[in-house]
Amino acid sequence: MKIISNPLALQQHVKNIDKTVGFVPTMGALHEGHIALIREAKKENELVVVSIFVNPTQFLAGEDLKKYPKKEEADKKICELAGVDVLFLPQAKDIYTQDEVKICAPNVRGYVLEGATRPGHFSGVLTVVMKLLNIVSPSRAYFGKKDAQQLHLISAMVQQFFMSVEIIPVNIVRDSDGLALSSRNVYLSSKQRVEALKIPKSLYTASQLIGKNILNTVQIKEAMKQILAPLHVEYVEILNRDFEVIKEVELGNTIILVEVIVGQTRLLDNIWL
Ligand code: PAJ
Repeated sequence: MKIISNPLALQQHVKNIDKTVGFVPTMGALHEGHIALIREAKKENELVVVSIFVNPTQFLAGEDLKKYPKKEEADKKICELAGVDVLFLPQAKDIYTQDEVKICAPNVRGYVLEGATRPGHFSGVLTVVMKLLNIVSPSRAYFGKKDAQQLHLISAMVQQFFMSVEIIPVNIVRDSDGLALSSRNVYLSSKQRVEALKIPKSLYTASQLIGKNILNTVQIKEAMKQILAPLHVEYVEILNRDFEVIKEVELGNTIILVEVIVGQTRLLDNIWL
């Protein structure tokens, strides 16, 4: 596995290789969710590039940028074992300059849900993903459905800026207790972790109601909120795949999203129906 830190060196390296490139951008502290993305990329491409970069512009003042888990040595081993060809480890000073051209998240879909609770977060995500895609020039880039709004906005950006990369969504990987894997789960105490299990439970209840043909979204959200109480619920929302609010679940075109704060930890989860 080749490790490259300089963006221009990586750009040159990939340019000289005549292979299909699969790209998995991450912020490190890798877990089985990230590995699932790498596996998909391995299946579909001749060369796999993973980036690890804790992107400062997507953290708001007062968020966990400084204490975001860092596990560089373990991450390198995980990538090596997973068969990654190139690991990209840039520094913020090589990615950003003082006076940047701005890419902004769209108002309607970028400033609702997680965008409402973290204003400016998605502009930071889109900016870094645009930069990383331009550095790596992959044939395909892999993103988890766990961050459904991020995936939606990145797909929109790629389409609207006519970028020639295919965005591949990858299913959510969960722990054996049902909690969606996240680098931030390490912040949870064992008591908080038990509380957090209300999140997958609420989604499971929603899918059971839908199985009984209860499709009214207000009714489903109410049932979910009852399970989530007394946690600090940021939002429970039921949308179609275009991220529009819907009154009735449309099978094959619905995402149910939850964001909850347990202690200080922001936890996201969703199901696609
Ligand atoms: P990070 O949180 O490290 O996640 C990297 C990728 O892994 C994202 O596409 C995310 O959706 C996916 N992922 C995380 N947990 C997952 C799980 N349990 N199952 C499946 N996929 C999962 O998301 C980011 O980093 C950043 O915003 C980034 C896109 C790298 C831009 O900085």
